[in-house]
Amino acid sequence: MSFAKEIDRKTLLQAARDAAAQAYAPYSRFRVGAALLFADGAMVSGANVENASYGLSLCAETVAVARALADGRRGGMVAVAISGLDADAISPCGRCRQVLAELAGLDGSDPVVLGEGHEGMREWRLSQLLPDAFGPKAIAPGGACE
Ligand code: THU
Repeated sequence: MSFAKEIDRKTLLQAARDAAAQAYAPYSRFRVGAALLFADGAMVSGANVENASYGLSLCAETVAVARALADGRRGGMVAVAISGLDADAISPCGRCRQVLAELAGLDGSDPVVLGEGHEGMREWRLSQLLPDAFGPKAIAPGGACE
């Protein structure tokens, strides 16, 4: 297995932008894309998926995490890029921070989070956005959820 030694921010942000173009956001018209980068170099992306019952809408980050978990991934996330197309830099909403922390918590990683917007790129660590996160280890202290 080859490992991504450095995070290619440009490529990851482009993947997030490409994903945003596929967003289903007929209600807010606010299209968001997220791209997760894994240690083996794989990228998994998602876009926001809204619903006529507004509260059921899914954010791009949540869709990407669900896709990665459904693909069988259980950790190895080194970075996530988020793009709102024509927006200010997006930092993930509170719910998405928790959803991202689930995937990170499966192997104790602290992924880089990139938000792209008009004024350029912003960068954080997930632990900065969600300090002292509740995660899988709180439930299964020995580690390893299935
Ligand atoms: N949205 C995301 O996809 N990710 C975020 O981090 C913030 C908000 C979506 C949800 C909704 O479909 C639209 O943006 C407007 O809030």
